[in-house]
Amino acid sequence: MTNGSRPENRVVSGMRPTGGLHLGNYHGALKNWLKLQYEYKCYYFVADWHALTTHYEDPSKISQDLWDMVIDWLAAGLNPSASTIFIQSQVPEHAELHLLLSMSTPLAWLERVPSYKDQQEKLLGRDLATYGFLGYPLLQAADILLYKPAFVPVGEDQVAHVELTREVARRINFLYGREPDFEERAERALKNFGARNGKRYRELRRRYQERGDVKALEDGKALVASSHNLTVADAERLLGFLEGGGRSILMEPEALLTETPKVPGLDGQKMSKSYGNTIALREDADSIQKKLKTMQTDPARIRRNDAGDPDKCPVWGLHKIYSDEQTRDWVNEGCRSAGIGCIDCKGRLNDAIQAELDPIRKRGQELSNNLDYVKSVVAEGCSEARDTARDTMEDVRAAMGVDYF
Ligand code: TRP
Ligand code: SF4
Repeated sequence: MTNGSRPENRVVSGMRPTGGLHLGNYHGALKNWLKLQYEYKCYYFVADWHALTTHYEDPSKISQDLWDMVIDWLAAGLNPSASTIFIQSQVPEHAELHLLLSMSTPLAWLERVPSYKDQQEKLLGRDLATYGFLGYPLLQAADILLYKPAFVPVGEDQVAHVELTREVARRINFLYGREPDFEERAERALKNFGARNGKRYRELRRRYQERGDVKALEDGKALVASSHNLTVADAERLLGFLEGGGRSILMEPEALLTETPKVPGLDGQKMSKSYGNTIALREDADSIQKKLKTMQTDPARIRRNDAGDPDKCPVWGLHKIYSDEQTRDWVNEGCRSAGIGCIDCKGRLNDAIQAELDPIRKRGQELSNNLDYVKSVVAEGCSEARDTARDTMEDVRAAMGVDYF
């Protein structure tokens, strides 16, 4: 494999199959995915095995939920010719890497992941004292490391998992990155680098190793990254050789924590399926309008003549996401002076939400009527993802000494 798509340019992220997405998922995660697909090589997948770690007793809904979610992705604009869209369980390399990583991952690293205790306490009534649930973040590490991404866009609650992923990668590199003939292999890789690049590389390496010149290290990394005639394995050897360590087998990714607006639900709490306060991405226009009519407002505004305070009103929280400055000024002044009523205020919000959701609903309808197309897109994505995953596994197996033929 050549370096057509340098790992630096990759992004990986997954979502559990929760069924149709709501506005909170859309503004909190999916919109960011849409943007990233035109800046990076993106791998987006349905984490169906992750759903089983907490809902193993009732897997019957997963299939329907999974397709509903993928339809939402596509309807909202995830573009299969820009992004690789796939399903975790259809790329069995995720399981193989998870297993191999499990050999050297200390139990304590998993037990101290905050979501482990949190979720066990939150999801009372479900027996989560399982092997699969403890291994949840390690499976996530495998999901990520297989694709050697530079970035993993996630919400705040997932940052600890990306941290763990980095530690796991470091440990694997430390344990298995020292090929016996590492230096010779690096020298050989340098030959493939071309005379000019090779000379520059040696110069930068010397500056870094002799004088600790960090800028030289960065330039050296960029030089390796920009080369198109190195194999991935050779590029990794040269990166390792530059820093003075062994070859890096797995790459440490970074969490990409993006600013996302807080989306209030109908009752003013955070919008979330478990609170039953959501508006779905492909919900009927009528149903949305009805929900907005009964949506919580500033409790102090009982009669039309009472002045209100937008900061105490979840409807305002949605205006902040959906409305332009002029409308926001209109709400702010009108609410505080009792110049407008809540019905007027919600009417404008309804218009803005419907304008955003109309095209998504339309595309969603077409996709639902054409499930074969949706499935073929995902099948294609699975096979593409597998090609990348297979390359990584070849390296990992070789490094761990479990390649025999
Ligand atoms: N654990 C993530 C969540 O619950 C989903 C997930 C699984 C994921 N594997 C991943 C996210 C890999 C990013 C990268 O939201
Ligand atoms: Fe909320 Fe708008 Fe009513 Fe003010 S006018 S309380 S912002 S719904």
